Amino acid sequence: MKGIILAGGTGSRLFPLTRVASKQLQPVYDKPMVYYPLTTLVEGGVREFCLITTPQDLPRFRQLLGNGAGWGLSIEYREQPRPEGIAQAFLIGESFIGEDPVALILGDNVFYGADSFQRAFAEFQSGATIFGYHVNDPQRYGVVEFDSQGRAISIEEKPKAPKSNYAVPGLYLYDNQVLSITKNLKPSRRGELEITDVNVEYLRRGQLHVSSLSRGFAWLDAGTSSSLHEASAYVQTIEKRAGIKIGCPEEAAFRRGHLSLQKLEALTDEMPDCEYREYLKGVIEEAKRLGK
Ligand code: DAU
Repeated sequence: MKGIILAGGTGSRLFPLTRVASKQLQPVYDKPMVYYPLTTLVEGGVREFCLITTPQDLPRFRQLLGNGAGWGLSIEYREQPRPEGIAQAFLIGESFIGEDPVALILGDNVFYGADSFQRAFAEFQSGATIFGYHVNDPQRYGVVEFDSQGRAISIEEKPKAPKSNYAVPGLYLYDNQVLSITKNLKPSRRGELEITDVNVEYLRRGQLHVSSLSRGFAWLDAGTSSSLHEASAYVQTIEKRAGIKIGCPEEAAFRRGHLSLQKLEALTDEMPDCEYREYLKGVIEEAKRLGK
C-alpha cells in the first residue's frame, strides 16, 4: 500500500507560528509534527510515501526527511499550490499511486495506540476503511452515524446537528477506485474537493468499512494553538511515564524490518548528543540484549 501525507494548507489558525515554518513542521513536544503521521503509516506497513505540501514549504520538508532512504523508506514530494481540498491529494499523487491502494493521512493528526490501525492495514483488501472516534465536539469534523448493528449509515462534513459523537479522523485507506471517484467529485460550497464526499461515494457503493477506535486510543489534531499545546503535553506525559517515544520513524522502520540494527546504529551515531539519540541507543541496546 502506498502512503500520502498531506501537509499543505495555510496554517492560518497557528499564525504567527506559521509565518516562517508550516504547521506540520512545528514541534509536538520533542519532534516535528510530521514525524507522527509518518510513523503511524510506517507502523501500518507503508514504505513508499508521497508528501504533498505548498511550493514554499516543500524544500523544508525535503531538508527534514530527504528521500527516506536512510530509514529504509522512499519519500517523494509533490506541490499543492492552493488548499483546494483534502481529496485533491489523489489527483496530485495519481502517478505516485499508480495501480495500488493508498493510505492518506493528514499531517496534523497524531495517533497513539496503533494496534487497531495495524490490524486495519493488515486486513485491508478492497473498498475503503475509515475510522470512528468518540469526541466531545463532533461538529468540527466529518461525522459518521451507525445503525443498531454498528454499520455506517451516513457521513456528513461538519454538521450543525451531528447525528452521532463519532468523528472521522484523518487517516483513510482506499483501493484504487479512489482515483476515479475523486475525478468525478465536484467542489463543495467552500470550493474544496471534500474527503467526506469520497467516503459518501464508497458508502453508496456498499464498500465503506468504518472501524471504531477503542476507548484507550488517542487521536489528537494539532491544528490550533490549544490543540497543539495539548498534543505536546499528552506526548510528554506518555513518553515520560512509559520511557518510550511516540512518533519515532527510525524506531518504527527498525521494528518493521526496513532498517537493520547496523544501519540504525550508524544513523544514531551521527546524531548530536541529545535525548532522542539516547532513546535510540536504548532501543539498540535492548535489541542486542534480546538478540534481534
Ligand atoms: O482531522 C480530521 C478532519 O479533517 C476530518 O474529520 C474532516 O472530515 C476533514 O474534512 C478534515 O477537517 P479539517 O477541518 O481538519 O480540515 P482542514 O481543512 O483543517 O485540513 C486538515 C489538514 O489538511 C490541515 O493540516 C491542512 C491540510 N490540507 C487541507 C486542505 C483542505 C491540505 O494540505 N490541503 C488542503 O487542500
